[in-house]
Amino acid sequence: ASPSRLDAVLSETYSETTELADIDWDSLGFSFLPTDYMYTMKCARGGEFSKGELQRFGNIEMNPSAGVLNYGQGLFEGLKAYRKEDGNILLFRPEENAVRMRSGAERMCMPSPTVEQFVEAVKATVLANRRWVPPPGKGSLYIRPLLMGSGAVLGLAPAPEYTFLIYVSPVGNYFKEGVAPIHLVVEHELHRATPGGTGGVKTIGNYAAVLKAQSAAKAKGYSDVLYLDCVNKRYLEEVSSCNIFVVKDNVIFTPAIKGTILPGITRKSIIDVARSQGFQVEERHVAVDELLDADEVFCTGTAVVVSPVGSITYMGKRVSYRDGGVGVVSQQLYSVLTRLQMGLIEDKMDWTVE
Ligand code: COI
Repeated sequence: ASPSRLDAVLSETYSETTELADIDWDSLGFSFLPTDYMYTMKCARGGEFSKGELQRFGNIEMNPSAGVLNYGQGLFEGLKAYRKEDGNILLFRPEENAVRMRSGAERMCMPSPTVEQFVEAVKATVLANRRWVPPPGKGSLYIRPLLMGSGAVLGLAPAPEYTFLIYVSPVGNYFKEGVAPIHLVVEHELHRATPGGTGGVKTIGNYAAVLKAQSAAKAKGYSDVLYLDCVNKRYLEEVSSCNIFVVKDNVIFTPAIKGTILPGITRKSIIDVARSQGFQVEERHVAVDELLDADEVFCTGTAVVVSPVGSITYMGKRVSYRDGGVGVVSQQLYSVLTRLQMGLIEDKMDWTVE
């Protein structure tokens, strides 16, 4: 979209979207709330995306034989918009999501929007729904871009048509614990990803595959599941919906991205923020035993932001972290990252987009 199209979005929806939505902003969790508009753009197999449009938010129609419904040919992204004190709205590194969607699309045999198309579509969708961006300090607008094989296939093959869609929903904290530490259990039977598989891209099936272990863990009172590599059953991979970091003697380490781990944008940003704060950060194999004598453990993700871990249970043995898990390193990194995202400190990295 050119600036003039964004202007058109603004004027077309101006009258009904300036006032904040009339909802209880203090009780936002991470659940779906319908908003005003969604964005869609279509493309044929082998073609290129062009001419997307905003439309009223609502159900979509799809052929029952669509590639995404039958063979899981789909990807999603997640990013957030924050409202600043001056009323302006900030996006955090949206071009990183665009690039990640493009790499996932290549793995899943799908065409994908250009980085520019993606970012402009995100901006248009946020502007059209701006009355749903929470007031400062009350949460954020979660932006969910989808890319899916929407055309009909019966024999296994890439779909003949693709749909890029963006919807948004205001959100608060991801875990029911709020900002309090979460409790993880290490899963050693079920795996999230395999070498050569799709663990490193944000395909929808990766998330369906973790529901079984996650449900079992929640039934036992844990917040979520920490996965191990499927070859050695020894090295940390990630949590169902976020990356993991371990702190020992002020050194921060996190599993290296080697195809089975989702390259989180918050993960990457936290590594840079930590280094800029003077920490040594190592991306390497992290053995599950290293959790036993760690000083702190925390998770990162767009949805979870930086979530401290209070305890981890492995093979029936529970390790609790000091101060209940509210570690000084994770608190410092959380504070810097979120103040940057909300426009409260100078953005020297040029990560935010107004
Ligand atoms: C995100 O953090 O945005 C994700 O995509 C994870 C999702 C399971 C909520």
